[in-house]
Amino acid sequence: MDANTIKATKSFVQQYSDQALQCFESRRRKILNLFNKKQCPDEGWREDEIEVLLHEISMMDSNNFLGSCGVGEREARFASSIVARRHFYMGHGIGRSGDITEVQPKAAGSSLIGQLTNCMALDLLRSIGLPSLKRCIVVPMATGMSMLLCLRMFHSQRPRGKYVIWPRLDQKSCFKCILAAGLEPVVIKNVNIDDGLMGCVEDIESNIKSLGAENIVCVLSTVSSFAPKVPDNLTDIGKLCKDYDIPHMVNNAYGIQCPAYLETIEQASKTRLDLFVSSTDKNFMVPVGGSVICGFDSTIVDNVGKMYPGRGSANPSLDLFITLLNIGKKGYLELLAQREKLFIYLKSELLTVTEDFGGEVLDTPSNRLSIGFSLNQFESLHRKFFTEIGSMMFSKFVMGARLVAPGETKIISGHEFKNWGSHTDEHTVGYLTASAAIGVTKEDIDGFIKHFRHVLSKVSKHVNQKVVCEVYKNNAT
Ligand SMILES: Cc1ncc(COP(=O)(O)O)c(C=O)c1O
Repeated sequence: MDANTIKATKSFVQQYSDQALQCFESRRRKILNLFNKKQCPDEGWREDEIEVLLHEISMMDSNNFLGSCGVGEREARFASSIVARRHFYMGHGIGRSGDITEVQPKAAGSSLIGQLTNCMALDLLRSIGLPSLKRCIVVPMATGMSMLLCLRMFHSQRPRGKYVIWPRLDQKSCFKCILAAGLEPVVIKNVNIDDGLMGCVEDIESNIKSLGAENIVCVLSTVSSFAPKVPDNLTDIGKLCKDYDIPHMVNNAYGIQCPAYLETIEQASKTRLDLFVSSTDKNFMVPVGGSVICGFDSTIVDNVGKMYPGRGSANPSLDLFITLLNIGKKGYLELLAQREKLFIYLKSELLTVTEDFGGEVLDTPSNRLSIGFSLNQFESLHRKFFTEIGSMMFSKFVMGARLVAPGETKIISGHEFKNWGSHTDEHTVGYLTASAAIGVTKEDIDGFIKHFRHVLSKVSKHVNQKVVCEVYKNNAT
């Protein structure tokens, strides 16, 4: 209803409609503010306010027009009303054939949500550590696929380019995105600096020199990673990229939740940093399926949008739109503060485990999300022993703890990675990583520590009784 319609109710409910109108007007002002300011609100909105807004916006999509007669081959019809409700009656998706960020003529409502979400994400990121950021687009693909799209965009502008320089990070999707883009990865070794492993900048430069800058599509560095890897030296890499005129993309899959990482990105943007990509699920607690592609030059980000072939699902934008409206900036900042506190708690709890069972908490202060726990008390045992510890933890429903067994070699599309999981060819002892990511609770950490203690107590007993030693002697195959 608009104000005039509410006024028309006066003949039924007399002056009481004035009160309703007042309340109605204050809701309208909130919506107008959102559209005019294009910012993530400071305070979260109530669910009913969000639902009303979504239903109204959905009426802007052609499938919901009264008297519409669709004779095209895509008319956003729903066979199931459950599906229709799940999507707030919006089915056209976002984008057009030539650009995922373009307004879809049949879907003014869905397009509005897509555009507004991009603005809200930009505003939020600017206010939590990236004041110079210029453009963000939420795309309906997870991080690996989005980085693939960015690589294709860079390649379209550097047709002679063939190589992607990639400081090693033992996670498959970020490596596979290079292969899937039809490009050749040049793996850069990590070096052990005081506080963890990071890509060797000298090695990057020597590869640039030997391969020829014009043959390189981009350097793909990483911020958020599993310990003992710490963020790559983005600023020094950015300087090289600036000097040799090579695009620089950053994998920041789950780093938005960590303002210190955003500051690192902001710093590096003063050298050269073209794009960074982050998952919506990992940073904003929405279902998997979207990512945010961000940059300090709008044209570069827009070029990625233009590379996207066809329309895409509006779901990731819609989920983020609802989430940001619902929790507001304040709610997001509270989640970040809580996460940081729990990260410190996780570390202190792991330290108490070392007091009782040995092992060592790896000292990687620049990694603000993930902690490594070296199982060096079992150093002499075979890697299968460590895998077994991982299985025992999993059987206790401990999710997300990664058990890195020493000496495992992995081959991905012909590329060999020694000691897969540990980010290095150098010998490492088996270790476990655990993270305190956004939304983690004290109960999650307490449950993990309880089960970890239980598993360590069990295996330590067996090791002492030499039961496992026979099975897992280091030279066993
Ligand atoms: C460091 C890192 N990079 C990239 C990815 C790929 O992200 P997605 O699964 O969103 O494609 C992940 C996934 O966990 C990751 O941890």
